[in-house]
Amino acid sequence: MNQPKPKTWFITGTDTEIGKTYSTTRLLAALNEANMPANGYKPVASGAAMTELGLKNPDAFGHLKASFDSLQYEEVNPYFFEAEEAPHILADELGQPIFFEKMTKGLRHLEAKNRITLVEGAGGWYTPLSFEKSFSDWVVENQLPVIVVVGLKLGVINHARLTFDAIEKAGLKVTGWIANHLSDSASLKNYIIGIQAFTDIPLIGEIPYKGAISADHGGYFDLTHFS
Ligand SMILES: Nc1ncnc2c1ncn2[C@@H]1O[C@H](COP(=O)(O)OP(=O)(O)OP(=O)(O)O)[C@@H](O)[C@H]1O
Ligand SMILES: [Mg+2]
Repeated sequence: MNQPKPKTWFITGTDTEIGKTYSTTRLLAALNEANMPANGYKPVASGAAMTELGLKNPDAFGHLKASFDSLQYEEVNPYFFEAEEAPHILADELGQPIFFEKMTKGLRHLEAKNRITLVEGAGGWYTPLSFEKSFSDWVVENQLPVIVVVGLKLGVINHARLTFDAIEKAGLKVTGWIANHLSDSASLKNYIIGIQAFTDIPLIGEIPYKGAISADHGGYFDLTHFS
């Protein structure tokens, strides 16, 4: 009998600290609530905070909590650096190189569960993982479709278009983008309109500042892209 095809998306963003984890954990919750079982994966993470599992990476811990399956921390986050610094610098300083093979093995392990898998990158599209390779090279190696989290703030139209172009130039599909409100300013809507004026890539979700993802708060996810 044929196994159902695994469905995996890579989640990148217009920059670091623009809401990739905030969006991904909420998207995982929305998928799971809609009976579309989904797990998170954060293959490379730097920075630590105290959690109920001890000192762990908060992004990966958020993925773990929002995942459908009861996963072990290491299944969600194979490369964890405690210091808050770019992963390629830490890998170099600590003499602990980041191997694509290990990142891929972890992904295959999750995909074998036949869920939707959302893989959060680190920083933006071209974040390096060594002095030779970027995270984007791993995404290309795995031919993953990409979702771009767009953190709405001044300068974002430029960042969003550069990111879309780089992904498409790499021959990958951008399934859609998520507009994440980084403040409660009503004028952020103008950035959404500005981006839509220059691209046909679908807007597949909007996340209000602090509010729930509900019609009352102006937030939604279009889950049809995941079925
Ligand atoms: N819509 C939002 N409403 C309120 N706070 C938000 C929102 N989006 C992001 N934040 C806050 O902004 C900060 C950065 O968000 P987040 O950690 O998701 O960024 P990131 O892109 O995943 O960063 P990194 O590159 O470190 O992985 C967090 O403190 C988060 O809680
Ligand atoms: Mg994050």
